[in-house]
Amino acid sequence: MTRYEQPPFVAERDLERATRILGARCGLRFHPGNRELLDEGLRRAARAEHDTPARLLDRLESDQSEALLQALVRHVTIGETYFFRHPEHFDALREELLPELMRARGATRVLRAWSAGCASGEEAWSAAIVLASRAKADFTLTVLGTDINRNSLETARTGVYGAWSRRGPLPYATGHLLQEPDGTTRIARELRDLVRFEYLNLHDPIYPSLLTGTQGLDLIFCRNVLVYFEPEAARAVLARFHLCLIDGGYLVLSAFDAALAPDGFETIHLGKTTVLRKRRDPAQPAATPRVRLRTPVPEFCATGAARRLPSREGLAQLRQAKAAADEGDVARATALARQTLASERTPEGLHLLAMVLGERGERDEALRLLRETVADAPDYVLGRLSLGLAEEEEPGARAGHLRRVLELVGARRDMELVDGLDSLPVSWVRKMATAALRRIEGEK
Ligand SMILES: C[S@@+](CC[C@H](N)C(=O)[O-])C[C@H]1O[C@@H](n2cnc3c(N)ncnc32)[C@H](O)[C@@H]1O
Repeated sequence: MTRYEQPPFVAERDLERATRILGARCGLRFHPGNRELLDEGLRRAARAEHDTPARLLDRLESDQSEALLQALVRHVTIGETYFFRHPEHFDALREELLPELMRARGATRVLRAWSAGCASGEEAWSAAIVLASRAKADFTLTVLGTDINRNSLETARTGVYGAWSRRGPLPYATGHLLQEPDGTTRIARELRDLVRFEYLNLHDPIYPSLLTGTQGLDLIFCRNVLVYFEPEAARAVLARFHLCLIDGGYLVLSAFDAALAPDGFETIHLGKTTVLRKRRDPAQPAATPRVRLRTPVPEFCATGAARRLPSREGLAQLRQAKAAADEGDVARATALARQTLASERTPEGLHLLAMVLGERGERDEALRLLRETVADAPDYVLGRLSLGLAEEEEPGARAGHLRRVLELVGARRDMELVDGLDSLPVSWVRKMATAALRRIEGEK
């Protein structure tokens, strides 16, 4: 008899069900070696939900909501992290990658990084510290931290950490990690402006996308995350990362994950470590990952189902502006979007300008443009979704927008694409709107 067949452990068939659910919805893999984690996590999740593991799984099988998935995910994922973990990566960033990226981005003066699977945020802050220590004076820096665990993201957003997060060496951190009298560590104000944390399930086909801020990146860190994934799911994530990076952009992974990366990356050996670089050699078809993505990549699409279509010239201009945003060239994207709007006012143009201005930190102007987008085209789903997700909008109004988004997607099939600035699957639009709505309602 194995350990799992005895009470109080979870029945083997329920572990199988949990494995199936977590694989299908999060890409996670629970092999015999980490079944114990699943067993304990499932029991803890069930206790927190005042239910039995079997009944919680019944609910998860019939309720696709992200809120219920969260109830399980937070107990079965490992959020282990600390500042400057694997310091060789940060040394390589500072000494090798950053000088090269700064040269390559000398014209746009923008550097964009993503910590994918950031847990409580220490990796994102560490990357921000290195970027700020070298490039803050001359570049606009943005760092995005994402995770599937909303509790971890809450910690990341507070920017206050205990001693355990500082257990490694803290190079370049002077002035950025502030020691409080009570022993905690607080992130300095100037660093907080560079970093933002968002929920993103890496198994969802929603990146690269302007709506998730995952386009036109120079640098992606994804360490100690894909080791928990099904190999096929990890390959799909890596193929998407390839699309998120600009040519010459870097992907920093844990050692074993690199074997799953698509051909469009080259391996760069740097002293004690290796990183992947998106090929820029025009002879190499960099944009063709070896892995075919089963799900579509968000891209500009205007079929005009619910609104007037832009003219052919307008569409061409919009695509150019969107391409600049996709390359992370925020200044050019802003200029092109303004130009487009001057000749033809379209909801997609207003939406695009709002998103790029939002990325530049011009939040009031972005909000004004999103409101105009919705006023001009009340049934343009993605514009309304962006407004419903904008934290600056008043909660009652946000809830109204999100409810309208859900009405607009109605009974449309999950994998159908919602057209617009960054055509996304209906399933994702529904999930984002439902999750945001629940949070607003929970806050009331
Ligand atoms: C061990 S932590 C790694 C933290 C950090 N990257 C580091 O190396 O220090 C793994 C993180 O991956 C997150 N994760 C697991 N599955 C995920 C998914 N499908 N999408 C996004 N994040 C996920 C977990 O919630 C957890 O916070």
